[in-house]
Amino acid sequence: MTQTAFPRFTRIAGTGSYLPPRRLTNAQLAAQLAEQGVETSDQWIVERTGIRARHFADDGVVCSDLALHAARHALEAAGRQAGEIDLIIVATSTPDMVFPSTACLLQQKLGIAGCPAFDVQAVCSGFVYALTVADSMIRTGAASRALVIGSEVFSRILDFTDRTTCVLFGDGAGAVVLEASDAPGILATDLHADGRHVGILCTPGTVAGGKVLGDPLLKMDGQAVFKLAVRVLEESARAVLDKAGRQDSDIDWLIPHQANIRIMQGTAKKLKLPLEKLVVTVDEHGNTSAASIPLALDHAVRSGQVKRGDTVMLEGVGGGFTWGAVLLDL
Ligand code: UT7
Repeated sequence: MTQTAFPRFTRIAGTGSYLPPRRLTNAQLAAQLAEQGVETSDQWIVERTGIRARHFADDGVVCSDLALHAARHALEAAGRQAGEIDLIIVATSTPDMVFPSTACLLQQKLGIAGCPAFDVQAVCSGFVYALTVADSMIRTGAASRALVIGSEVFSRILDFTDRTTCVLFGDGAGAVVLEASDAPGILATDLHADGRHVGILCTPGTVAGGKVLGDPLLKMDGQAVFKLAVRVLEESARAVLDKAGRQDSDIDWLIPHQANIRIMQGTAKKLKLPLEKLVVTVDEHGNTSAASIPLALDHAVRSGQVKRGDTVMLEGVGGGFTWGAVLLDL
């Protein structure tokens, strides 16, 4: 049995992301929707959400394909080989198959075998859930070097006749390589769910008897989600700061789930953070569910915005209803 030194912590060794090349601006999407009699506009989408474009995967490209690109970029940034990974967790609500998990399919595509690999399903909170699980496993010595990925092909579950949802989402993937460390790293985590709100954001269909049963397309009560998101994002931010013994003013960067600029700015305001400390990428990729936080994190790291040693607050919120936060020193 390997001897593990305690206390041990989790640090991010590298980040990566991937957006499929097919990019649709609001105007291009609006023109396509107009052909089907669905009316929307660039102005409405930008004003209500901050989204300017999204990326859609081509037919035949699946969740694990996007995850593979993001994982390779993160491994490269960490200076590691796939064979050095001893845990894979994929956060997704748009897996390749009912089973096996996208994590196992990714493991195969990475050309490795043996380490545990599994999916986490917490919709848009999936990445903070997966990060928290990986952190727990690393702290207890169950893993030492993990690949944690958020990957989604939400375009596959959109109802393109429903303008209240189809303009909001996109496809993409983001990844981190986590390593055991004798100093943090991840300072504190905070996760929640409230199943009383399952109906406000869901894709209720399922597969049974060789058929799709129920509606397999995304449904959302946008206003209900909006109100709940604003409240729980503040609560979770406060909870994770308390757990870490830190203050609002210690946050160098807030990286919330990238769904709506108004929700993100509202959260920053409640935490008394200047808007310059808010990482925003929703304009470029829309809501990519579990992929949005690692996509934004990777963008911020690669653009030089977020640097080693900065204190970063990650916050997820989404279907379930689920929400949570991770506070870390990069
Ligand atoms: O990933 C999980 C987290 N998800 C979220 O955070 C989403 C949270 N919710 C939201 O971001 C917002 O509620 C939306 C962006 C979904 C909607 O924004 P809103 O300001 O709440 O708009 P609304 O639903 O109140 O709709 C206002 C108007 C309505 O028309 P009427 O009834 O006032 O005539 C809608 O029919 O905007 C209309 N509308 C649109 N118009 C043009 C709704 N969607 C569109 C559209 N284009 N795409």
